[in-house]
Amino acid sequence: VSLKPLQILGNSIPTDETTNVTPTILSKIHLRLHSQPSHPLGVLRSLIESHYPDFSHFSSVSPLVSPYQNFDELSFPPDHPSRSPTDNYYLNKGLMLRTHTSAHEVEMFRQGETKWLLTADVYRRDEIDASHYPIFHQVEGARIFDANASGMKEVEEDNKRLSKFLARSNIVIEDVPHLSSTNPAQPSHDPQLVKLVSLNLKLSLNSLMFKLFGGSATSPSSPLRVRWIEAYFPFTSPSFEVEVFFQGKWLEILGSGVIQQATLDAAGVSNKIGWAFGLGLERIAMVLFSIPDIRLFWSTDERFLSQFKKGEITTFRPYSKYPPCIKDISFWIPQNGRFHEGDLYDLVRDTAGDLVEDVKMIDQFTHPTTGRTSMCYRINYRSMDRSLTNEEVNRVNEQVASQLSSQFDVEIR
Ligand code: PHE
Repeated sequence: VSLKPLQILGNSIPTDETTNVTPTILSKIHLRLHSQPSHPLGVLRSLIESHYPDFSHFSSVSPLVSPYQNFDELSFPPDHPSRSPTDNYYLNKGLMLRTHTSAHEVEMFRQGETKWLLTADVYRRDEIDASHYPIFHQVEGARIFDANASGMKEVEEDNKRLSKFLARSNIVIEDVPHLSSTNPAQPSHDPQLVKLVSLNLKLSLNSLMFKLFGGSATSPSSPLRVRWIEAYFPFTSPSFEVEVFFQGKWLEILGSGVIQQATLDAAGVSNKIGWAFGLGLERIAMVLFSIPDIRLFWSTDERFLSQFKKGEITTFRPYSKYPPCIKDISFWIPQNGRFHEGDLYDLVRDTAGDLVEDVKMIDQFTHPTTGRTSMCYRINYRSMDRSLTNEEVNRVNEQVASQLSSQFDVEIR
C-alpha cells in the first residue's frame, strides 16, 4: 500500500486506509466528455440545456465531494448500504468521487440558484458489460418556488404554459397520482402546493422527453409513450421514475421528486419548495445515436469521433466489430472473506483497460470437505479499434491472474 498523496485536478490529496480509487479512474477524471461540443454526450447535454433556456447551466464542478455532501446532506441514514467502499471510490476517509449529481444540490441552492441544470461525470464501482462503466454522466435539474401564494401563482402559470405545449405534442402519458399513502407529501408541506409542484415536475419532464424522443418514429398511430412510476429516494418525497417506450422497449430514464425540506434547510432556503430530477446521459445517448457499447464514449478513434457534429443527433455507423477472445479464470477465494467481486472488476480494468468487453461469473462451488470456495469468471476480450491476437490476450490474461493472486491472496486453479 503506497501512502503517497494523489494528484487530482491540480490538488494534492492525502491517502489513508480508505483509499480505493484506481489508476484507471484517476487517469480519466480530467477528460470531462460532456464538455466536448461534438461528442455525443456533449451534443445531448446541449440539447437538454436548450430545453431549459431560463435555467442556470453548470458543467465544470469538480467531482471531489465529501461523503457528507454525497449522502448526509441528502438524508441518507448513517448505515445506508450505498455508502459501502465496495460501491464507491474513496480518495480518503473524508473525500470521495461523487456517485450522483444530487451531491451538489445543497451548494447550488445555498448559492441562491432557483432554477438550474448541472451536468457532470459520476463514479460508481460496477460490473463490466456493454452498458456499465465505472464513470458515467448525469444531468441534475432543479427548480424551487416560494412556499407561499406568490410561489403558487408562479407554479400555476408555468403549468399552463407547459400544458399548452404538451396538448400540441404527439405523446401519451401513463401517470401515477401525485400523492399516495406509499408516496406521501412531507409533514411540513401543504399537500395542495405539493400537487402543483409535482404537476410542474411532470409537465416539465414530459415535454423534455418529447424533445429528446418525440422527433423520430412517432406518427398519429404511434405516439411517444412515457410512463411515471412511484419511486423512493431518501432526498425526495413524493418520488417518481420515468420510463420511455423506445424501439420496442421501456427504457429507464430518470429519478425525480419533490425535494426533502431537510435539503433546503441545509442550504438556508427553508421558505422554498421545489423539485429535482437526475438523468443518466449514456443510456439515452446509446439509443438516440445507436451506440452499441458504452466503452465507445471513451474512444479517441477518429472513426468514432468524426461521426458526430455539434447540435445534431446522428446515427452511428459501427466500424467493423473485431473478433472476441474469451478466457476463463478459476480460483479459490481466501477464507478471510476479503475478496469482493468489485475488486476483480477494478483489477481487470486496471490491467486490461478497455480491451475487456464483458466479465461474467460462470461457476461457483464450495468444496464439500475443505469448505473452500472456487469461482470461475469468463472474460470477453475485444478491442473496439483493432483485432487482438491470441498471444496478446494470453499475456494480458496472465497479468490479470498474477495480479489477482498477488493482491487478493486468491489461488489460481
Ligand atoms: N440522484 C438519483 C440517482 O442517481 C436521481 C435523482 C435525482 C432522484 C434527483 C431524485 C431527485 O439515482
